[in-house]
Amino acid sequence: MKKAVISGVGPIEGLGAQLCIRFATKGLHVLVAGRTQTKLDAVVSAIKANGGSAEAVVADSTNESETAALFDQAGSDLDVAIYNTGNNTPGRIAEMSAEFFENSWRVCCFGGFLFGREAVNRFAGNGGTLLFTGASASLRGRENFGAFNSSKGALRNLAQAMAKEYGRDGVHVGHVVIDGPIGGEKIKKNLPEYAEKLGEQGMISIDGIVDGYDYLYNQPKRAWTFEIDVRTSVEKW
Ligand SMILES: NC(=O)c1ccc[n+]([C@@H]2O[C@H](COP(=O)([O-])OP(=O)(O)OC[C@H]3O[C@@H](n4cnc5c(N)ncnc54)[C@H](OP(=O)(O)O)[C@@H]3O)[C@@H](O)[C@H]2O)c1
Repeated sequence: MKKAVISGVGPIEGLGAQLCIRFATKGLHVLVAGRTQTKLDAVVSAIKANGGSAEAVVADSTNESETAALFDQAGSDLDVAIYNTGNNTPGRIAEMSAEFFENSWRVCCFGGFLFGREAVNRFAGNGGTLLFTGASASLRGRENFGAFNSSKGALRNLAQAMAKEYGRDGVHVGHVVIDGPIGGEKIKKNLPEYAEKLGEQGMISIDGIVDGYDYLYNQPKRAWTFEIDVRTSVEKW
């Protein structure tokens, strides 16, 4: 059975979880990786209830040995790996601690390096698809978001370098720029007033985003896309 490793999985109504569910419906065995066992278990249960195959792996994306162990657990036949981990880290630079800035980079960029390195080594000569989740922050700096912008921008450049370095080995590396708020639990539950202000039409459909990953995964070797961006029709960009 082909395998998918997806890191940065949280609540069911979140991008990481919905990526897991989609790749399981495509017949892959999914390693559902993240920090919180109960959230991962809920995703695995949903997949199994639908006749799919999955297992939960608790692994902090910033931890080198836990990332290696995650891929060890996947074993052979790795077909797709998705680095979805990333937390927004707002704050002004003048008041920002060095630790806070470094942690933003560790989660958004360094973890992507650990994950990407393991993935390309495990694909070996067989090729595979390696996808990274980006944000508006990947393409521009913005007041009050210097830590997040710089770390997501660095992740994008890492992804592009890997696309060029491993394409000839049959590894399709892609980057998805999510340009705006996702209509998932993170915004709806944690920022209800913001969600109300945006309305459904102002939040990006998770299903639509997942379609983008699916599209990249399905591309033939002679027609690869490195990057797609996705936003709502009402987004000011
Ligand atoms: N939410 C948005 O509006 C938005 C917009 C643009 C781009 N994005 C990007 O989309 C991706 C997914 O974000 P999301 O907000 O929708 O969340 P999500 O996919 O629903 O969940 C991501 C999960 O990643 C987990 N995580 C955080 N740090 C981790 C670490 N060090 N190791 C392992 N797992 C970790 C968190 O788990 P716990 O809950 O267990 O801590 C979180 O729930 C991120 O890369 C984000 O930058 C999000």
